[in-house]
Amino acid sequence: MSTKLPQNPYSYVSHLECSLTGQHYSHDRMRGLSDAGAPLLVRYFLGKISEVISKDTFVQRSPDIWRWREFLPLPLEMEPVSLGEIETPLIAFRELPRVFIKDEGRLPTGSFKARGMAVAVSMAKHFNANGLVVPTAGNAGSAAAAYGAAAGIPTHVYAPIDTPTITLQEIELHGAQCHHVDGLIDRCGQLAGKAASENGLHDLSTLAEPYRLEGKKTIGFELALQFNWSLPNVIYYPTGGGTGFIGMWKAFDELEAIGWIGSRRPRMVSVQTLGCNPIQQAFEAGHDDIMTAFAPVDTIVPGVRVPKPLGGRLILSVLRASGGHACAVSDDATIECRDQIARSEGINLCPEGAACHVAYLSDLETGAVNRDETVVIFNTANGLKWPMPELI
Ligand SMILES: Cc1ncc(COP(=O)(O)O)c(C=O)c1O
Repeated sequence: MSTKLPQNPYSYVSHLECSLTGQHYSHDRMRGLSDAGAPLLVRYFLGKISEVISKDTFVQRSPDIWRWREFLPLPLEMEPVSLGEIETPLIAFRELPRVFIKDEGRLPTGSFKARGMAVAVSMAKHFNANGLVVPTAGNAGSAAAAYGAAAGIPTHVYAPIDTPTITLQEIELHGAQCHHVDGLIDRCGQLAGKAASENGLHDLSTLAEPYRLEGKKTIGFELALQFNWSLPNVIYYPTGGGTGFIGMWKAFDELEAIGWIGSRRPRMVSVQTLGCNPIQQAFEAGHDDIMTAFAPVDTIVPGVRVPKPLGGRLILSVLRASGGHACAVSDDATIECRDQIARSEGINLCPEGAACHVAYLSDLETGAVNRDETVVIFNTANGLKWPMPELI
């Protein structure tokens, strides 16, 4: 790797790299996929970061995603588009003190999608995008709408018609144009792509531009810091497009490359539901990528309704490298768990978070995880964004 630092505008980014072929691209303009049609990964002059700034400096900064500024692509002199992306808490279960919920529902727009959109929309503004478009299972759309509003950039969202109503309302409340699609996120993606090319909009689809992943990566830094530069034994993550999953792993690699953590990694567990589990199917079949779109999709858990994630190859490689596994739980068990945790722990999990807890309990039974292990379960959104049980 060249050691020449970019001059102006200044960031620690060295280049973009095709995740399939390794081909390098300059980061001097907005880019989508690589020539091979694969996601682009942002690469940094990591050695330079650790030379000029110590671990302690990061610790002393205000606890939000921008404390990791040198590991992010936005040039340092640029003001980010921010709505207050705070560090999210780890909440220990009362009965299981080594099991933590990472509560991402505290972030702007009530979900972890704020992390990716804060960085991607900041970069879109930096590159003078005059319109944004995103396909969504729901939460990415409301985050794009909010950050688009904060950046003053018109935003279009393509969302399945059966997305929770409150999320569709939230998208419109932020002034985005919400296109209700009779189909799933893959159909939304086709329509968003068409709108992008016909109207010159910047396409924020999952992994189709390199910067949402960088925002999501901050979850990995945050975990390392919260566990005192060690990492938990197992992480349960509800997987749709997989940006948080891939992003966390990228963060761990970057931290190891500069010597702030060792080579030990958590076992990464990808959680889906029986009504949409393409990752589990591909993982168990020993495939390197997801070959066919899952059909028919039939689940009430919106975040995992992605029949063929673009980042399938990356997700599967993280699963294997970490010694983790992929699982799928039922919708009924998910909702029962959501209701039970609300009563026993006082935490209103989103269905995606509840699905992760169901997966953890089932792994405890099979012995895939044991009670002595430190576990993080991702609650990726605020439970208030989903319908609650009828009044008694
Ligand atoms: C609440 C929630 N959890 C999980 C996911 C899946 O996230 P990812 O695309 O990073 O796999 C989504 C995506 O829409 C979501 O909204």
